[in-house]
Amino acid sequence: MCGIAGYLGPRNAVETVFEQLKLLEYRGYDSAGIAFLQDGDIRILKRAGKLTELGKAVAEEMPEARLAIAHSRWATHGGPTDENAHPHYDQFQQVAIIHNGIIENYLELKERLAAEGHSFRSETDTEGAAHVIGREYEEGVPLEEAVRRAAGKLRGAYAFVVISKREPDKIVATRNASPLIVGLGEGEQFLASDIPALLPFTRRVVVVKEGEVAVLRREGVSLLDSAGKPAPIEPMEVQWDVAAAERGGYEHFMIKEIHEQPDVIRQCLLGRIDEAGRIRFENIFSDYVWTEIDRINIVACGTAYHAGLMGKHLFERLLRLPTDVFHSSEFRYGDPVLSEKSLAIFISQSGETADSLAALKLCQQRRIRTLGIVNVVGSSIARECDRTILTQAGPEISVASTKAYTAQVVVLSLLAFYLAQVREAPGVRVPEGVDELKRLSDMARAALALEEQVEPLSEKVAASPLVFFIGRAADAHVALEGALKLKEVAYIPTQESPAGEMKHGPLALVESGVVAIVGATDSKVRDKTVSNMMEIKARGGTLIALTTEDDETTCQVADHVLRLPKSRFDFFSALLSVIPMQLLAYHVARRRGCEIDQPRNLAKSVTVE
Ligand code: M6R
Repeated sequence: MCGIAGYLGPRNAVETVFEQLKLLEYRGYDSAGIAFLQDGDIRILKRAGKLTELGKAVAEEMPEARLAIAHSRWATHGGPTDENAHPHYDQFQQVAIIHNGIIENYLELKERLAAEGHSFRSETDTEGAAHVIGREYEEGVPLEEAVRRAAGKLRGAYAFVVISKREPDKIVATRNASPLIVGLGEGEQFLASDIPALLPFTRRVVVVKEGEVAVLRREGVSLLDSAGKPAPIEPMEVQWDVAAAERGGYEHFMIKEIHEQPDVIRQCLLGRIDEAGRIRFENIFSDYVWTEIDRINIVACGTAYHAGLMGKHLFERLLRLPTDVFHSSEFRYGDPVLSEKSLAIFISQSGETADSLAALKLCQQRRIRTLGIVNVVGSSIARECDRTILTQAGPEISVASTKAYTAQVVVLSLLAFYLAQVREAPGVRVPEGVDELKRLSDMARAALALEEQVEPLSEKVAASPLVFFIGRAADAHVALEGALKLKEVAYIPTQESPAGEMKHGPLALVESGVVAIVGATDSKVRDKTVSNMMEIKARGGTLIALTTEDDETTCQVADHVLRLPKSRFDFFSALLSVIPMQLLAYHVARRRGCEIDQPRNLAKSVTVE
């Protein structure tokens, strides 16, 4: 959620890191700051609030510098104030640091340092780390050594970047859990917490590994391992298009990303279905392992958790393979029962979600096989899992996840049919499943065409004090995701539940004027869903039904019907119904004037537990 940027080279470093921060705005933040070297001193400009505030300070001073680091902060320890904003100095203002993540033992460190006479200007854990580094640096060691030694004294998940006035030719950075990426240039080097902040400048990147210390100089970059020995540099070329990280003509990233879904589905299948129609994945477990697995535990947060529920539906219905889905934040503390032959699947767009990483560590300790389904290449979860399948959805900038969800469910579907193929699951029509997956992109395009009907409905939904999302079977899982979208971008309270649960409590909330969004794509349970719709209608609720084009029943009860393509697998029609729900959330939010791409209180990448 916080953003890191760094630059040294011939450009105006302050302007460059400011540009980088702008590219990281989607991560969510509430203050920002820059440190740069000028006339032999480290100068810091920092402001609470949006980047425009920092921009004003920069514009007033117009500083010129060849080395700068910058940070956008999402408050954890200490409120979003100028003082708490990063960068922070050490005791003697020899060094300045910026930091993502949390230093867990900062109170203990600060107390110890205070007893030695250190004084602190902020309430942050980061300033404690700055002082620890400064203290090591007083020993006369090079900055990278001071950083390495200090890292050994810090506990927690962090990435930090340090500059020093004694060594004005370098930027030093290290990480433990939080991401850090170096961008390689000619006679200039860059640093960022996230790839989009590097794309306008360079495509050659090095992902700093946990415990490594990166030393950036104009002429090149070197890495040290946690023992201080030189480590190999493994540059990789980022394929993402710069335009792919920009809005591409849409008013918001969210709507752009919703519209990208047909392409994302195609992208997701790329290279994974061979000419004979067989599914294949590179670098995953052997057939033996896939056959041996006796249980699947899916672990994820938010939207990715909802995708996990869709995975459970498939693994159990198609393969009769017992599957549990856990919220990552609960998994670690729930003392889960994990069988030796089980597989833990971690689903994450960012690949940096702290709760999921913590759960992953638990599985590693218990020696359970792990598989990541991740969007961001080189992210922590992608690297830490035994095997990883990339969702190949491209960068998702809007805080509200849309295309990542679809890509996650498509990967889970591919995986389910792949397992059916490997395990020769009786009764599963794999070639038919593959055909439907191939048609899915066109079907998603048809679902997007519903936007014309969805937009006018947004007026009614925007006026509803509470919006219900209900459905049965896979529709019930998609209902959870539809409700999350409306809540997070349009700030409208929702009540989501399996349709059959309404009469066990939530029905009490139905009164005239409320809207219910009903997923009715599954023909096998439609009659039951229709009965639940009637219960709502009888109490004055307005019904918007999402169903398939062939359905003749739902329209007899619903006030509005949105028709989706009919897939031979009801599951895929249910998946497609998420598209009009995303569109609805978007248009309601727009109508209400909400800050769509960066909803209040939320961040794109949740790197704190
Ligand atoms: O990056 P991740 O997929 O691990 O993020 C998990 C959740 O924070 C995320 O899905 C969140 O719920 C969405 N941004 C909501 O739209």
